[in-house]
Order: sequence, then C-alpha cells, then structure tokens
Amino acid sequence: MSGLPRFSHPRLLVGSDTHDDAGVYQLTDDMALIQTVDFFTPMVDDPYLFGCIAAANALSDVYAMGGTPLTALNLAAFPACADKGLFGRILQGGAAKLTEAGALLLGGHTIEDAEPKYGLAVTGLAHPDQIITNSGACEGDLLFLTKPLGVGILTTAIKAGLLTEEQLQPVLHSMAALNHSASAVMVECGIKGGTDITGFGLLGHLHELAEGSGLRAELWAELVPIWPQAVELAIQDVAPGGAYRNLKYLRGKARFAPQIAEHQRLILADPQTSGGLLMAVPKERAGMVEGKLETAGVDYAIIGKMRAGSGIDVLPS
Ligand code: CO
Ligand code: CO
Ligand code: CO
Repeated sequence: MSGLPRFSHPRLLVGSDTHDDAGVYQLTDDMALIQTVDFFTPMVDDPYLFGCIAAANALSDVYAMGGTPLTALNLAAFPACADKGLFGRILQGGAAKLTEAGALLLGGHTIEDAEPKYGLAVTGLAHPDQIITNSGACEGDLLFLTKPLGVGILTTAIKAGLLTEEQLQPVLHSMAALNHSASAVMVECGIKGGTDITGFGLLGHLHELAEGSGLRAELWAELVPIWPQAVELAIQDVAPGGAYRNLKYLRGKARFAPQIAEHQRLILADPQTSGGLLMAVPKERAGMVEGKLETAGVDYAIIGKMRAGSGIDVLPS
C-alpha cells in the first residue's frame, strides 16, 4: 500500500495505517460501518469445506473488530474447463457460513482464471465506542488466544501427501468455525485491543498489536496451544514459505529466549487460515472473559502479557 495516497476524514475511524483487520467508517453517533475483503486459493480438496473456511476467514475480520456482519459479496475465480458442480459446492459452503453468521449474501462477481480462488467482501456494523483495534491494548493486559496454531504447516503437509484431510478433521473443523462467540465475549467485556490470527502468524499479528498500541508483548511460548501433529512436522522443517518469510520479517522485532527451539519459532510464525482471535484483556476483567468464553464453549489459552517498551519477547513461560 506504500505509494498510495493517505486517506483521512473525520469519520474514518480505522484506515489502513494501523494494519487493522478491517476499515471502519462512522455513520452516526452510535453506528460505524466495518468493511473487509479476503480471498485465496484452496488449501483443502473438499470444495464445500473450502467455501466454509474461506467465508469463516472473511467474516473473522469483522468479528476481530468487535462488529456484527450484515452483508457479503462473493469474489470468485474459476477455470473455464473445470467442473461447474465443484464451483457450486464452494459457493454453497460460503453461503452456509453466512447463514450461520446471520449475514446476507447480496451477490458477487466471478472471473475465469487458471487457479480457482474464493472469498468474500464483508460489511458489518458496530458501535463506534466498541471497535476493537491493534491500537487498543494497554500495559498489563493479558493475551488470550482462541484457536490452536499450526494450520499452515498441516495444510502444507496435506498438499505434500504427508497427511490426509480425514486425519485432520478436528483441525479443518476449527478452521471452518466462526469467531462469532469469541467476538461477542470481547464486546460484552469491553475489550479494546485485539485482532485475528491469519497470514502473518501469531508473531506477526502480535507485533502489529504491540506496535499499534505502543507497547511490548511478552509471549509465553509453552502456553500457546498448538495442533499436536504440527509439532512433529515443524521439527522436520515441513512448513509453508510464509512461515519463513514471517520469521525473516520479524528479525529484530521478535526476541527469542535461547530455550525457544527453531521449530517452535516456525510454529509461532506459521501463517494461519481462519485462525483464532487474539485479545488484550485488562487483568481485572480476565476472570469475566474466562467465564464467558467457557460458557460459550470457546477454547482459549492465556499466552502472554502487554508491557511497556516495544517488540516481542518470546519466553518459554
Ligand atoms: Co484479520
Ligand atoms: Co483479512
Ligand atoms: Co460484476
């Protein structure tokens, strides 16, 4: 986005400067519009499941901002020669997730392309005072994470034929799960700092949260939830190119304690598709957030803390 003009306006609450999940435009005193778009190539063979995951991922950016998704538009690319039934299954998966989210599909646009792609532009609403951003974390806040890491490593292993989709049902189920309930808890508890974990991996998104809030993040690596199969694969250096690129970007930004092994660093930087929410929770509200997440049936872990300073310190615990 460098080289583009900077857009600013009194009603533009969140633009592109802070690398937030979505843009936010204030409509009235108590209504703000949230807009985001996400699309990508399939990471699983099952077309319906791919549609579900792509939609859950696109909706997640509205949830990460503390919003409620209202409407969505499909963005799709599909090879001319390919089976139209497959394409239909992708769109059906996406539509099912929108229905689950209570959002309406208004239409979309499809082009021909050699490699299939699918995703959505999603529009949501939130109260302007309840927007959750990368700049909203405070010193002392505890970091909560709601989905295990390792999705990029595991889908790379599927593509390499090292694992089958059948062996990864719980992982794929988690990727297709909406961040709806976790988002509702953030809003109910008045959380101000947070994001979702996607292409930059936990460390990349945590860095944006720390930088946006003018703070340092302390990450407790042993407490970070990880899909068990991903650990073995990371030890064997099975990881997507994005994990290595993320680690390279984080050089000088993330400081690793010597006990943090190479494969752990890879997992912490592994790009996630439709990852969980990362929330910065004020200490005095941690108990309330834990109780509400448990009631809502959302798995979570407390994985670190925001402190004064800058960058990320990755400690064992
Ligand atoms: Co996001
Ligand atoms: Co996104
Ligand atoms: Co058109």
